[in-house]
Amino acid sequence: MKHWRIEQMDWDSFDPARVDTRLIPMVKAASVVERNGVDYARYLKNVFVDDPDFRAAADNWAVEEVQHGDALGKWAMLADPSWDYMTAFERYRDSYHIDLDVDASVRGSRTGELIARCMVETGTSSFYTALADATEEPLLKAICKQIAADEYRHFKLFYDHMHRYLGREKLGVWQRTRIALGRVTESEDDELASAYHTTNEPAGMPYDHQRCIALYMVHALGFYQQRHVNRVTSMIFKTIGFTPHSRLQSLAARGVYALMQRRQKKFERQLAVA
Ligand SMILES: [Fe+2]
Ligand SMILES: [Fe+2]
Repeated sequence: MKHWRIEQMDWDSFDPARVDTRLIPMVKAASVVERNGVDYARYLKNVFVDDPDFRAAADNWAVEEVQHGDALGKWAMLADPSWDYMTAFERYRDSYHIDLDVDASVRGSRTGELIARCMVETGTSSFYTALADATEEPLLKAICKQIAADEYRHFKLFYDHMHRYLGREKLGVWQRTRIALGRVTESEDDELASAYHTTNEPAGMPYDHQRCIALYMVHALGFYQQRHVNRVTSMIFKTIGFTPHSRLQSLAARGVYALMQRRQKKFERQLAVA
């Protein structure tokens, strides 16, 4: 079912001279979050307990997410031979948990859950596109392009299921907007910050959310260019039911990009003070 396989990548094309060391911590953090897709599939299958089509799709989705983790982890071990992907993943699993044994979505409805999934895939597809554009290292560029294409297909998958449920649950545009923006702002919660901590900081160092999210965001936000943000906002508009590629959307895209740059500067100042 996979659209590509890890063995098909040209691993001999890795060029250590073209590795930007600022990108390595981002790749390490992303690898463990991706591999955690299996846990998330368990959660999704509990939420959609009587929907065999969606449950099968969630299993296929998780296989692809794990492959993303494995490809990024393998690349990070080439870039930093002292680092071990599976050890880092075990540390991440010990430190970050989501409540899997649920019988309903934490978003209040199945439509809400699928909107949140669309937001995550919007974030990942834009992140890997931005990372592919930011790196000159040919292997990482190729891996990120493959992953970004998967993430866009995942967005489509959750979007189509969301429309199916929207017909029954009838969430209004503002409810959809609230859920979508709520999930976007959660990117500064513990999932990415603890991934940064467990993949980049020594085992004995205590976890400090503020430090770790600042270290993660200061680099991650720096990769984005206006064109990546244009895509993000058009995918968000599509999900909540506004017209993408409209005047309002291009205005929103400029506003969001300015906001991201301000956030990045804020994290930079925070780290300079610390
Ligand atoms: Fe992924
Ligand atoms: Fe994905």
